[in-house]
Amino acid sequence: MYNSLPQEYREATTEELKKRIKAAKEQLGSKLIVLAHHYQRIEVIEFGDEVGDSYGLSKIAAEQKDVEYIVFCGVHFMAESADILTDDSKTVFLPNPLAGCPMADMAEMADVMEAWEYLEEFGGDEKVMPISYMNTAAGLKAFTGKHGGLICTSSNAMGAYKYGFDRKEKLFFFPDEHLGYNTGINFGIKPEEMVIWDFSRDSGGLTKEQIDKAKVILWKGHCHVHTNFKPEHVEQFRIDYPDGKIVVHPECPHDVVRLADAAGSTKFIVDYVTKQPAGTTIAIGTELNLVSRMAKTFPDKKIVELSGQTCAVCANMYRTTLNDLAYTLENLQDVKPIRVPEPAKSEALLALKRMLEVS
Ligand code: 13P
Ligand code: SF4
Repeated sequence: MYNSLPQEYREATTEELKKRIKAAKEQLGSKLIVLAHHYQRIEVIEFGDEVGDSYGLSKIAAEQKDVEYIVFCGVHFMAESADILTDDSKTVFLPNPLAGCPMADMAEMADVMEAWEYLEEFGGDEKVMPISYMNTAAGLKAFTGKHGGLICTSSNAMGAYKYGFDRKEKLFFFPDEHLGYNTGINFGIKPEEMVIWDFSRDSGGLTKEQIDKAKVILWKGHCHVHTNFKPEHVEQFRIDYPDGKIVVHPECPHDVVRLADAAGSTKFIVDYVTKQPAGTTIAIGTELNLVSRMAKTFPDKKIVELSGQTCAVCANMYRTTLNDLAYTLENLQDVKPIRVPEPAKSEALLALKRMLEVS
């Protein structure tokens, strides 16, 4: 819970909060839409008018016509993207302002600019296309838009690679090295044609020859939730459940992805689990809140978290509570909205529109 919430919201019981959220939603009616990412707490999901992955929710935000308020139960970059994709008649709120994404924070604007300046020696705009994962700050989306690039999510990274290679010789992908690498392999790029730009080292820790030969330059960033999953977890699961299925998110390291039965975005995982016949044992390599919800939704299947531990929680997704949601909905006039200023908004919109076109 966000500590600066007024006491009445901090101390309200769950039952009271649920009643108040329901009443506030009824009062706001069609002026409001509540979007909830799949990793949100189950009690928050209950109030999502739409529940989805980062791609699905951004598309829904972009399609809104008459709503005035979009309350985004997710993390900061998702709410920013919703603001970029909507006109000024809509106001976007993030119920807990502390909900960020540590992976997005691994790509700082100044570091990316330094890398790009260096890549200009290798053709810059003419030969290199920036592809920014949705998990980035708005400023980087704007940088991407300005340089002819596009945004991708785990749902459409293959389409983004195709868009990039149809137009340029090299891709500069940030900030998730694992999604970038896994997509590269699926796209048929050889491992030796992908290099990691380590922003803590001069020239990314790469020689000119390495960059010259590379088709994909990957930012050295990762999600601490998905890199929890290791090949030994897959091996152990195969011993324990020889007939079981494993599905993982492509933010997991390639060593895990290649051993799994399937890999894909959060929506892909939900669809995969839904399609498995009753009685199947399924290990999921993604955020724990989603895994627990899937286990509750499908009591006829045995659904477990792949690592067999309970550490795969995204603490930032977990920050949003019913207390935050109740406060936000009852005090829209006093809550600071998420607003991306111009010209960043228009530049970032170019990159997001390209994403929606290729998907
Ligand atoms: P999705 O694009 O699958 O929703 O993933 C977002 C995310 O932050 C995964 O860690
Ligand atoms: Fe960021 Fe990982 Fe949390 Fe997704 S799960 S929001 S990538 S920290």
